[in-house]
Amino acid sequence: MGDPIEILKWYMTAGIEEICADSPVNFLQKETNMSSVGGERPATSVLAQASQAAYSNARDLCLQAETLSELRKMVENFEGCSLKFSANSTVFGYGHEHAQLMIIGEAPGADEDRIGQPFVGRSGHLLDKMIEAIGLTREACYITNVLPWRPPGNRTPTDGEVSVCLPFLQRQINLIKPKIILLLGASAANAVLNNGESISKLRGHFTDYQMSDGSAVPTIASFHPAYLLRAPAQKAKAWSDFLRIKKYLTEV
Ligand code: URA
Repeated sequence: MGDPIEILKWYMTAGIEEICADSPVNFLQKETNMSSVGGERPATSVLAQASQAAYSNARDLCLQAETLSELRKMVENFEGCSLKFSANSTVFGYGHEHAQLMIIGEAPGADEDRIGQPFVGRSGHLLDKMIEAIGLTREACYITNVLPWRPPGNRTPTDGEVSVCLPFLQRQINLIKPKIILLLGASAANAVLNNGESISKLRGHFTDYQMSDGSAVPTIASFHPAYLLRAPAQKAKAWSDFLRIKKYLTEV
């Protein structure tokens, strides 16, 4: 048995920063299975019903929000998504309430969770530079995420978490009524366009998002800045997506 402090430091170095269950699980024991994590799991149908109820609750609440600040308060008070309880902040959208360009990412990361604003970490700095390169500023846009809470350890959000939080995003789109929406990465594009296509297929194309009032807003998907930081050779494609946005905004 090694020094527990050294083991914890090793976990931190490996990016494991969150504890996801109340009690430890020995995965080396043969009889251990996932049902023992955090005690007995409720039947899937019970979980599904709980998500359905949380989704309906979020959708009904949203319809009562006439302004972004009312909606922000609702999201801050909403308890139907368990991500809220592991996050430090509720990261609501930031920017101009009549923005022409609305930008949607996946979920807050560690920096956003600490500061309480979307895209303020390394990917946010790259996003700011890209926005400025097409003659806009962060303040002139409206920047938000599919999820207002950071998933522990930045894991990919589950379909349930996305569907419960989706009404809050849809209401932000309805209230802002942007001229165009930029979807950053597959999670945001799949959630808003309700499909399962890869980002390589989706990026660079205009696809209409249908609002509840029957009107449509064009969207364009592009690579997530976090991916561009890992794969800088793809920046040229992202740049061409941003130029399409600039061209669209100068023509409408
Ligand atoms: N990645 C996202 O998708 N959103 C943020 O706000 C930060 C990083």
